[in-house]
Amino acid sequence: MGNVTVIGAQWGDEGKGKLVDWLSNRADVVVRFQGGHNAGHTLVVGDQVYKLSLLPSGVVQGKLSVIGNGVVVDPWHLLEEIAKIGAQGINITPDLLVLADNAALILPLHRDLDQAREKAAVNKIGTTGRGIGPAYEDKVGRRAIRVGDLADREALEAKIDRLLAHHGPLRRGLGLPEFDAAGLLAELGAMAPKILPFARPAWRLLDQAVKSGKRVLFEGAQGALLDVDHGTYPYVTSSNTVAGQAAAGSGLGPKGAGFVLGIVKAYTTRVGEGPFPTELFDDIGQHLGTVGREFGVVTGRPRRCGWFDAVLVRQSVALNGIDGIALTKLDILDGLPTLKICVGYRLGDQTFDYLPAGLKAQSALTPIYEEMEGWSESTAGATSWKDLPANAVKYVRRVEELIGAPAAMVSTSPQRDDTIMVRDPFQD
Ligand code: IMO
Ligand code: MG
Repeated sequence: MGNVTVIGAQWGDEGKGKLVDWLSNRADVVVRFQGGHNAGHTLVVGDQVYKLSLLPSGVVQGKLSVIGNGVVVDPWHLLEEIAKIGAQGINITPDLLVLADNAALILPLHRDLDQAREKAAVNKIGTTGRGIGPAYEDKVGRRAIRVGDLADREALEAKIDRLLAHHGPLRRGLGLPEFDAAGLLAELGAMAPKILPFARPAWRLLDQAVKSGKRVLFEGAQGALLDVDHGTYPYVTSSNTVAGQAAAGSGLGPKGAGFVLGIVKAYTTRVGEGPFPTELFDDIGQHLGTVGREFGVVTGRPRRCGWFDAVLVRQSVALNGIDGIALTKLDILDGLPTLKICVGYRLGDQTFDYLPAGLKAQSALTPIYEEMEGWSESTAGATSWKDLPANAVKYVRRVEELIGAPAAMVSTSPQRDDTIMVRDPFQD
């Protein structure tokens, strides 16, 4: 039986959470493999709305959920989210949630650094301010404190000292107060008994699960254009967000990713700073933001909105090895008389059929548009192709053609079941 990897094909907020929740009843295990609580996944089930940032969306359907080694984990936030979801009736126990013992922790000093840098910077990134970048820096710098370290208080003390040898000068340079090492040690000590019951060698559990025929659903966070290598660098997040990371960030080998399902919004949004060739500053942009309720789940910031960019998504199809897409929020385009799709870029007298890597070029691109006739009917809640107006079907077909990947699903509202299923990725 195949596995499925769900990733964002644009700049995040494509609706990954809804699709993961919807697919998770076909899976046995749901795994997060990168990012942290910078993600914001909204799941609507009947009249209940679940907002998840760190917990895999599988918890809502009671599926074994794994936070893999590739994730950076803020243990305070984790406990808060467990309590919040618990208050909505989902009891998160170590039978339901597994936390990789080799995942790196996000500590308060990472958040301090993230926020202080954003405040001081001339060219700020517009991060979520949750310490994601600095935590990954410490992981790659080989001085991170990891989940398993919470079990050994003595070693922990030495690790905190080592970490502070690095952070002390940084904090002083940014005018931040001296960090209270003893306070951190005490807090982590108090926290350890609450976190450690979830800690396990997640790679081993996944290896055994796959060997016994279980199906794994990988849940990506952010999107391919926010990937630290392939995205609009430096306006990116600090992890690899592409499907290939599912292997490294979980400990299951590269064949484990299975069917790669790219989640693609029917238009484009971005939150935070950075290049965005098809961004709209007019009424249509406003309209997409309002009707699409485009506000960040994590920070509440309004998202920037623009036309569908087929060039970006075609690139994303290649970078991720996308087998099929789930097109989301098609209903937000309902009622627009004319729709535009970006099919190339112009830069001076040059044209591009891909996004060039340099920030300077990326910021100066003008989109080349193709126009299509819109539809006036509502597509919200459609569950089969025949519920869609002809022009909406045409739009989907044109998107498929331009990006070079078929639509496996079309999502027509935030509700779990408002989804047109063309092809079950688990059956592939
Ligand atoms: P989901 O999973 C959209 C953006 C931030 C900022 C940049 C770096 O909901 O799709 P970071 O805090 O990660 O260092 O910020 O990345 N960003 C997201 N944008 N959706 C997300 O997650 C995002 N997570 C981070 O806005 O531009
Ligand atoms: Mg989000």
